[in-house]
Amino acid sequence: MIGRLNHVAIAVPDLEAATATYRDTLGAKVSEQQPEPDHGVTVVFVELGNTKIELLHPLGEGSPIANFLKSNPAGGMHHVCYDVEDIIAARDKLKAEGARVLGDGEPKIGAHGNPVLFLHPKDFCGTLVELEQPEA
Ligand code: CO
Repeated sequence: MIGRLNHVAIAVPDLEAATATYRDTLGAKVSEQQPEPDHGVTVVFVELGNTKIELLHPLGEGSPIANFLKSNPAGGMHHVCYDVEDIIAARDKLKAEGARVLGDGEPKIGAHGNPVLFLHPKDFCGTLVELEQPEA
């Protein structure tokens, strides 16, 4: 069901420092900071040949990554995102198998303008999983 690895998201306490680490130390191509107020994060995209890394920093009150950074003050891997061809079919199959879909279970528009869902880490090896349906 899952396709390619769309991105790995890393929550960071200092977005400038993290961007410099990826750009200067690791020699990767990085984007400008992109505020995503609907998602409570500012994102920097690191473009790799086969996937992306997303550096996430809290934006505004009640950011979904604020608590994560409290528990992981140095930052850390927050989630992995896999492509799926049909996000509704994927959700229905996962729910039928007992997996927990976060929120109200309806896809939201994610940082790339495509529908996304999040799956409970306890059902997926302790890892928060995002599913994204790329443009056809
Ligand atoms: Co993501």
